[in-house]
Amino acid sequence: MAAPLPLIFRNPPLRLCTHHLLYPPLSIAKTSTNPYSLISYSPTNTRSFPILNSTQMEGDEITEEITETTQTNVVGKKKVFVAGATGNTGKRIVEQLLAKGFAVKAGVRNVEKAKASLPQDNPALQIVKADVTEGSAKLAEAISDDSDAVICATGFSYGWDLFAPWKVDNFGTVNLVEACRKLGVNRFILVSSILVNGAAMGQILNPAYIFLNVFGLTLIAKLQAEQYIRKSGINYTIIRPGGLKNDPPTGNLVMEPEDTLSDGSISRDLVAEVAIEALVNPEASYKVVEIVSRPDAPKRSYEDLFGSIKQR
Ligand SMILES: NC(=O)c1ccc[n+]([C@@H]2O[C@H](COP(=O)([O-])OP(=O)(O)OC[C@H]3O[C@@H](n4cnc5c(N)ncnc54)[C@H](OP(=O)(O)O)[C@@H]3O)[C@@H](O)[C@H]2O)c1
Repeated sequence: MAAPLPLIFRNPPLRLCTHHLLYPPLSIAKTSTNPYSLISYSPTNTRSFPILNSTQMEGDEITEEITETTQTNVVGKKKVFVAGATGNTGKRIVEQLLAKGFAVKAGVRNVEKAKASLPQDNPALQIVKADVTEGSAKLAEAISDDSDAVICATGFSYGWDLFAPWKVDNFGTVNLVEACRKLGVNRFILVSSILVNGAAMGQILNPAYIFLNVFGLTLIAKLQAEQYIRKSGINYTIIRPGGLKNDPPTGNLVMEPEDTLSDGSISRDLVAEVAIEALVNPEASYKVVEIVSRPDAPKRSYEDLFGSIKQR
């Protein structure tokens, strides 16, 4: 019934117990144009990080949940560090931040690529080299003490490295959080994905969930990074979009609590907008939101949308 993951790890990235693979019958999502509109499956162990020599993950294990209640948000025209700024969503976040008057530090793997793809000759934009797999110390240098917030829009690149999702979507995100902790940066926005907790949602047989986890346990890597953020004490907003589209937004934004949506899609332009609204809206603090767009959804304000999601 459950789909065992056909991956062989010398150091398994997490312990998959039998009960994690025995969730009830899975519901297959209705759309299939994008694996993200299909996913489902379930992870759990939030503390077991594998050791990969080629990747640095320097964060100490966080053993106690920190009950941070300060509602600090980035308001006004502050500087925002964007990790994965050359990505399809990342560059939209950069463009929208600049348009809204923020200063932006674009963290990229390839500076030349960034210079060619990001807005040029804008004094409010600084491009810095920042590979999230190179450890939190280097990232802290890149973010430095002039950044007020970090938005993470990274995603591993498909290739032959089956560990890439763990290196980027898990360790890389943890490294960013640790860099923020070192610097005292207390606002972190993560672009994650719906169905990261698909197993707990009874979506273990969702084709998108299977597809993305078969390649390097991508969704499980993301979920563990989310759990690290949530225990870190940092003021976070985790945004889990449905399948991403480059087309302009259509319909209205639907925002639901964690582990609710199992299909649907959304324009990357709208994901970028939600990330920036999360920065400025106090109602977004310490929340996980799942987003898609639907033509029949009512138009609602961001204050109303974020306000309708409970902190957990
Ligand atoms: N595709 C979907 O339908 C979908 C749905 C839901 C959620 N998501 C998630 O949403 C996020 C954004 O997706 P997207 O499609 O916009 O991403 P994308 O276009 O694939 O961009 C990914 C970005 O991450 C960067 N990156 C990769 N490895 C890195 C590393 N080691 N250090 C620093 N940066 C690194 C890439 O840099 P380079 O430009 O140098 O390659 C690129 O800028 C991802 O986390 C993705 O998993 C995707």
